[in-house]
Amino acid sequence: MNKLIAPSILAADFANLQRDIEMVNASDADWFHIDIMDGVFVPNISFGMPVLKAISKHATKTIDVHLMIVDPDRYIQTFADLGANVLTVHYEACTHLHRTIQAIKAAGMKAGVALNPHTPIAVLEDIIKDLDLVCIMSVNPGFGGQSFIENTYKKVSQLKHLIEFSESNCQIEIDGGVTDQNASALVEAGADVLVAGSFVFKSEDPTATIANLKAITN
Ligand code: DX5
Ligand code: ZN
Repeated sequence: MNKLIAPSILAADFANLQRDIEMVNASDADWFHIDIMDGVFVPNISFGMPVLKAISKHATKTIDVHLMIVDPDRYIQTFADLGANVLTVHYEACTHLHRTIQAIKAAGMKAGVALNPHTPIAVLEDIIKDLDLVCIMSVNPGFGGQSFIENTYKKVSQLKHLIEFSESNCQIEIDGGVTDQNASALVEAGADVLVAGSFVFKSEDPTATIANLKAITN
């Protein structure tokens, strides 16, 4: 299956956002990964609705929104209206996860769940068939540019087994510290979507970096 590359806009140059979006549009990337942080669920605030609206205006690829916020149910319809195609909430932020997932789907989006590095895959056993995507955090959420947590490989294999055992169609996304050093091993372990922020946008030639990630994973 085609493995997907999702550049994380958190690492883009916000003073040249349209330029960076157009770079992604013209590149081998598959998705835009958009990190929304509220300063409560995570110790950082990224950007909110007006910025996502501006991104949506120019983006020509799937918009994958990663909500690092408490009480995401409040904003599901808003994110649908802003152009999100995939909406991912954190397991740790949802008391009634099943209800939240159904609401995301009812709003016409694909539904994802993200797991913090300390959260075991097993908590998804009873919801895996309802999910379109699981995002395994390979860093603690809140900041770009952190180092990849090696325990992630084990979690990817466990999740892959759970998906196969449950006959789920869910995709596996990896978020945090992805580089050309770990990309192929992640895909080998079962990853379908690789998010890459700093590695893409801080490189000398982001278009070439994306092309290289795509080539080594496919
Ligand atoms: C972290 C975010 C990530 C981040 C990845 O909380 O969810 O999407 O932008 O950035 P890098 O690739 O720099 O680790
Ligand atoms: Zn993210």
